[in-house]
Amino acid sequence: MSELAILGGTPVRTTPFRSSVFIDDDERTLISEVLEKREFSRFMGSPTEDIEKQLIMPSAEAVDYKSQYFTFLGGRMIRQFEADFSKKFHSPFSITVNSCTSALSTALGACNIGPGDEVITTCMSFNATAMSILMFNAIPVFADISPANYCIDPDKIRMAITDRTKAIIVVHLLGFPAHMEEIMKIADEKGLYVIEDCAQAPGTEYQGQMVGTFGHFGAYSFQETKNFMTGEGGMLVTSRPDLARKARLIRNHGESVPDSTWTDTDLINIVGMNFRMTELTAALGIAQLRKMDENNRTRKENTFYLCEKISHLPDLGVPVYHDGIVPHVIPFVYKTPKGGPHRDIVLDALRAEGIPVGSGYQRLMCDNPVFTRKIAYGGHNCPWSCHLYNRKRDYDPSEFTVATDLLKNRFIWFYHIGKPNEKADMDDAAKAFIKVFQNLDDLKTLSAPKGPKKYKW
Ligand SMILES: Cc1ncc(COP(=O)(O)O)c(C=O)c1O
Repeated sequence: MSELAILGGTPVRTTPFRSSVFIDDDERTLISEVLEKREFSRFMGSPTEDIEKQLIMPSAEAVDYKSQYFTFLGGRMIRQFEADFSKKFHSPFSITVNSCTSALSTALGACNIGPGDEVITTCMSFNATAMSILMFNAIPVFADISPANYCIDPDKIRMAITDRTKAIIVVHLLGFPAHMEEIMKIADEKGLYVIEDCAQAPGTEYQGQMVGTFGHFGAYSFQETKNFMTGEGGMLVTSRPDLARKARLIRNHGESVPDSTWTDTDLINIVGMNFRMTELTAALGIAQLRKMDENNRTRKENTFYLCEKISHLPDLGVPVYHDGIVPHVIPFVYKTPKGGPHRDIVLDALRAEGIPVGSGYQRLMCDNPVFTRKIAYGGHNCPWSCHLYNRKRDYDPSEFTVATDLLKNRFIWFYHIGKPNEKADMDDAAKAFIKVFQNLDDLKTLSAPKGPKKYKW
């Protein structure tokens, strides 16, 4: 008789893993300060005489800018968070927004991406990466990933470039840095903008340099499931004053700013968004940023410890990390042994042992009906039908063989590596992996669940 819990045995673990949302007195003090001062948003949306000065002011200077009570750059907490972020992430301009989705769209808008333009991105990311491209009516073009780091494959970028390509959105997936050296080389050769989606990789380094600082913009998410969080929220970083200027306008009702002295170029993509972050959110961000290094250290320690403990299992691929990588989620890879059970049965067996694991994203981004059916704005296939685009672009997920195989047959994602989870929790996870992988034969009698399975966090 097998002792696997899915077949009636005793589970390795019955207590849930703990939430990685980590709050202490730092957050409480700063939030109380906002409440006491009754300052919830000090953004002014209309122009003042010093508007041009404000728009290109580095975040380190803006923190002390006292032209008036309300500023175009926001209140005290906002400007403090931006200054702290700039220091930590080695980028002169940090621009808070209300999500990473807004950050990506703002970045594309600031790069003047618009109708008729193509933006190349990975086929494997959270939907927001691709959706952000539609915001300014550009056309997403997807490329397969590299099996080495699950990020966009530079060779596939080259193959996807057309005369309409204007930008690349690179995603540093699950904390792994993308191949930035090759990607920046391609972008320089072809004159393309590069936007780095760092939602899952705050603090990760590539060749000793922070991701998010290679391209024209880096975009971060502070949504609750991220490595550091403010509930919802996001940040854009750039080193270019002209791009920061435009991003700051897009964030803050840019439409109300221009007067007759502004050129037509100033008006492109200034469509009056409100992507502003609140003072309460920024207060949380300041406090969370202070503990980012400590939390990242725990993520690394837990990950390296767990990977080491189960690296001997012959049917399990364990990711290779170096010290510059801050893991977001660990993507183990099932090697699908000949005649062995399907990956989905292995997932169920691990879950039955009390280890919450996932198969990765439910589908590739290009498999979303918005793309397969090309219905975004109105009922006329806009933006694909735009006369400025005037070419055929279809989306076929089966083109992306590396990503498809990983999602359908191989990925086993483990999430609970953040503080306060610790080595004892990783020991449980390791025990369960060892138990299941040493008894794979016992699972052969079970059939794989049909359709996507809902996983309870
Ligand atoms: C890679 C990636 N990009 C973008 C986003 C969107 O972030 P937000 O929820 O802050 O808009 C996410 C969120 O899950 C993400 O994982």
